[in-house]
Amino acid sequence: MKIAIIGAGAMGSLYGGYLSGVEDEVFLVDISQEHVDAINSGGLIIEEKDREVRLHPRATTKPEDIGQVDLAIVFVKSFLTGKALEKNVALLGQDTIVMSLQNGYGNIDQIAEYVRQENIIAGTTSHGASMLSPGRIRHAGTGDTHIGWVSNDDEDRINGIAGLLRRAGFVTAVEKNVMELVWSKLIINVGINALTAVLRVRNKELLRMDETKDILRRAVLEAVEVAAASGAEFDGEEMVRKVMGVAFATGENSSSMLQDIINRRKTEIDTINGAIVREGGKHSVGTPVNSVLVNLVRALEKLE
Ligand code: PAF
Repeated sequence: MKIAIIGAGAMGSLYGGYLSGVEDEVFLVDISQEHVDAINSGGLIIEEKDREVRLHPRATTKPEDIGQVDLAIVFVKSFLTGKALEKNVALLGQDTIVMSLQNGYGNIDQIAEYVRQENIIAGTTSHGASMLSPGRIRHAGTGDTHIGWVSNDDEDRINGIAGLLRRAGFVTAVEKNVMELVWSKLIINVGINALTAVLRVRNKELLRMDETKDILRRAVLEAVEVAAASGAEFDGEEMVRKVMGVAFATGENSSSMLQDIINRRKTEIDTINGAIVREGGKHSVGTPVNSVLVNLVRALEKLE
């Protein structure tokens, strides 16, 4: 299977790297020439807890050099999804499956402007990874991968992709209810990302203090209410436990939003907590805790 990863930051490199261990034609597409050159000359190095792994996906900044692929996995920041698809249109044929394992709300709608709904897989990952230097990432936390068709019921094809991810080392489950899947991941990010970014702490620190556990809980319960108003039902307290479980499992990780703040990059606050505030507004569900988190992160983005 010919596979391209669109956006080879830490998470894209993690998935692309391990997929290249089980498939011959795996390409990482990224805008960073330095990262691409480092991978093509010395391989991609993944620092695991107890060892270093060197893998050899092919990397490029030019999607037109790759041509159409069977599977494109999107890993760019959620506010760049539309632009990334436009730039990588050379990868997309009639039958290309596009899978989003991104954070944030609204990715599927943006992807659907470039490929048929039947070819889109939505997914979630609870892995944590960070970029250390060009060609080198740290795999800081493991978790499950869940995938599901947006609008298709071809079990063989999706099971084939799940099997591929499993062979690459990712514990993967196929889900029927994709909306629930997307909301569940969104709520995990709602609880962890902004709070770790504001406090500049690793995920596990959120579980050490009553104050952070309380804010996490309130932000998650608001999101659960908004999800319910949008048609995705979750048990609030169960969801709080789930989010805390992910913070524990990825405890050593600096969340993607914290990494963005540290590296002075634009964050995904608008498509995470911001999406809760927006969707809450549409359904008249109050979201005061998420509003404060949005304002804090936006203010952090503006600080010199
Ligand atoms: O965005 C992130 O950092 C990740 O989705 C997660 C699972 C919260 C781990 O840090």
